[in-house]
Amino acid sequence: MTDRKFLEIVEKYLKICQENHTPLIFVASRFYCRMDRKKRFYCCRVKARQEGAGRGTLKVLCISASNILHSKENSISQILCSKISEILSEKETMCEIADLRTYRFQPCIGCGKCYETKRCCNDTDFNTIYEKVTESDAIFLVSPHYAPIPAKLSMILEKMEEITFLHWWKDNEYKSEVYGIPAGIISHGGGSDWALKSYKAMVNDTIANALDTIQCKTVPYNSEWNTGISLPVQMVLNEDPIFPIQKYDWKPLIQKIREYVEIVLNEIV
Ligand SMILES: Cc1cc2nc3c(=O)[nH]c(=O)nc-3n(C[C@H](O)[C@H](O)[C@H](O)COP(=O)(O)O)c2cc1C
Repeated sequence: MTDRKFLEIVEKYLKICQENHTPLIFVASRFYCRMDRKKRFYCCRVKARQEGAGRGTLKVLCISASNILHSKENSISQILCSKISEILSEKETMCEIADLRTYRFQPCIGCGKCYETKRCCNDTDFNTIYEKVTESDAIFLVSPHYAPIPAKLSMILEKMEEITFLHWWKDNEYKSEVYGIPAGIISHGGGSDWALKSYKAMVNDTIANALDTIQCKTVPYNSEWNTGISLPVQMVLNEDPIFPIQKYDWKPLIQKIREYVEIVLNEIV
């Protein structure tokens, strides 16, 4: 049974118990109950740290947000996700990379059916990735700058927002399925240091706004880079008939990613 199905059943059961004023002791290995300010119960997934387990049981999802096919295995988003994965594996933390190039999404048309199901009735690929997000202890979004963000990333943020917004609109105490999940945001593009502030404004801040709406917790790198990090190219070569070729100085970038990964992991409660 998936976590979501289990959660649905438990939440229904909680509602019945509450309506009948039935005392309830709730024991389940992956969930615990909380009471909100209106004294209604809701369920939260038990995070590995709360179970007292080591990092080996943490699940991290890295979303590689590039749409671009021509770069193949040289996609910088994909390479950055692999670097995160390597760092996490040193820390015995499980990591899954979701490469958006392999997903086909449909834009949200506002049919409102997700109000009942919390899933899109028109988009199995979106549901697949959303399920992965809900089951993660932390996520990383690694996105190129396309002035502003890649279309597929925009489509998933749009749908996650719609699912949460419709519930929040009816009940301002609503806690989303991804409530409190720490999120690291890493942007990059074809520019060097001079472009980084622009990447922050266009990519990191845009993604952070969307994550805030769905109740994920964007993790700052520091007070200036409060919506994640942005990474520069070292140089861009004009050696391909169509596309620019980007070169990187990987050592300082990996050091920065390593620091940020540690900061994000420390936000898992
Ligand atoms: C449609 C499109 C628009 C882009 N616009 C910009 C841009 O405005 N500024 C920039 O620095 N790079 C821009 N780029 C370059 C990409 O950010 C860069 O090539 C990045 O490495 C692509 O990600 P990937 O390597 O993971 O595919 C653009 C790329 C594409 C495909």
